[in-house]
Amino acid sequence: MPIVSFATPKGGAGKTTSAIVLATTLAQGVSVEIIDADPAGRALAWSKRGSLPGNLRIVKSAGERSIQDEIDTASRRAAFVILDLEGAATQLNAMVLAESNLVIVPTGDEQQDADAAVEALAQIRMQARALRREIPAAILFARTKAAVKARNEREINAAMRGNVDTFRTELNARTAFSSLHSYGGSLYDLDRAQVGGVDKAIENAEAFASEVIEKVRQS
Ligand SMILES: Nc1ncnc2c1ncn2[C@@H]1O[C@H](COP(=O)(O)OP(=O)(O)OP(=O)(O)O)[C@@H](O)[C@H]1O
Ligand SMILES: [Mg+2]
Repeated sequence: MPIVSFATPKGGAGKTTSAIVLATTLAQGVSVEIIDADPAGRALAWSKRGSLPGNLRIVKSAGERSIQDEIDTASRRAAFVILDLEGAATQLNAMVLAESNLVIVPTGDEQQDADAAVEALAQIRMQARALRREIPAAILFARTKAAVKARNEREINAAMRGNVDTFRTELNARTAFSSLHSYGGSLYDLDRAQVGGVDKAIENAEAFASEVIEKVRQS
C-alpha cells in the first residue's frame, strides 16, 4: 500500500499540518494509518485533541530500530500509510525515505523556503542513488496566500514549477487548517460557527488528496 512521507529540513514548513489534512481527507473514503516519526510528536498531540475518523489510526514510531516493522505493519492494515517526519537529516528519516513511494516536500514561496526545498530534494536524490532506485518526490506549496501573490512569490513559484515535480494544488494558509491543531479531528468536524472558510479548506484538501492519489498511481 502506498507509503507517503512528508519531509523537509525546514522547520514549520507545514509537514505535520499537511500530513494531517491529507490523512483525514483520504480517511473519508479509505483506511489510513499515520506514523508519527517526529520525536516531537505533534501529529500524535493533534490526534488526542478530537475524535478521529473511523478508519484512521495513528501510531508513534519507536525510532530507527522499529520503523521498518512499523511501516510493514501499517501497510498491511491500511490503504494509505502517511509519515510525518522531523525536520532534520536523521538516520530515521533516511530509512523512511527509503521505504516511501512518494515524498512530499512542503514549502512556502519565499526564497529561503525554495532553497530549503531544493536542499530537501537533493537529500532525497542522494538517498535514491545510494539505494539504486528512484524515490518519487514532489514539492507542495503550503501556507501560501490564497489571494494574489507578490511578484517575487510568483517568480519563485514559477521557477520551482518549471524545474521540479510540483503539486498543482497549493495548500494555502487557512485558519481551518491551522485550527485542526487546536480542535483535533478533521476539517469535516470543524464547527463552522467557530472557524471560517471550512468549505474552501475542504475543497482545497480534496484537490490535494486527489493529486496525491494520481501521483502515487503514476509511481
Ligand atoms: N496550510 C496551512 N494553513 C495555515 N496554517 C498552517 C498551514 N500549514 C501549517 N500551518 C501552521 O504553521 C505552523 C507550522 O506548521 P507545521 O507544524 O505543520 O510545520 P512542520 O513542517 O511540521 O514543522 P516542524 O518542522 O516543526 O515539525 C503551525 O502552527 C501550523 O498550524
Ligand atoms: Mg512537524
